[in-house]
Amino acid sequence: MNLATTVSIMATLALTTAVPLVAQGTPEKATTPTPSKTDSAAAAPAAAVTPELIAQGEKIYSGPGNCYACHGSKAEGSVGPNLTDSEWVHSKGSFEEIVAQVTQGVPKEKAKSGIAMPPKGGGTLSEDDVRAVAAYVYSLSHK
Ligand code: HEC
Repeated sequence: MNLATTVSIMATLALTTAVPLVAQGTPEKATTPTPSKTDSAAAAPAAAVTPELIAQGEKIYSGPGNCYACHGSKAEGSVGPNLTDSEWVHSKGSFEEIVAQVTQGVPKEKAKSGIAMPPKGGGTLSEDDVRAVAAYVYSLSHK
């Protein structure tokens, strides 16, 4: 684990303790999230996107999800598109859309670049893992 990761996890932990974890475990209640203007604890980006889930998702992104291999270690884009900007090829970039995108991947015939993305990045991710990694990806472009 590098220093930047350590610092971001520390920051996430600090946030987690500041925010009561009321919003967990209600996947079907999560509607299109409203991007927050600030990153203060009072203005959490989406009910389902908790700092804890984001931290968990970061580990999946750089680990079993294989996302880093195609999207870059900072999600800056490589074989797959940049996931940190507000440009979305396949959706409007809402949390639920990202969850669906990661679950399904991008079949070759739908891929704008002609390169397919395997469902769940080709890894064996649980539904919870997918939601976590989607929360991380969502957080990158909604600060
Ligand atoms: C084998 C390479 C590969 C892996 C692994 C991979 N992706 Fe992708 N991903 C792509 C490609 C290629 C596209 C875009 C296809 C196209 O050109 O339309 C894409 C598209 C996406 C999109 C849609 C982007 C948009 O602008 O609409 C999201 C979100 C995404 N990937 C997230 C992930 C996550 C999260 C993981 C890890 C669980 C992951 N990807 C793993 C190659 C990959």
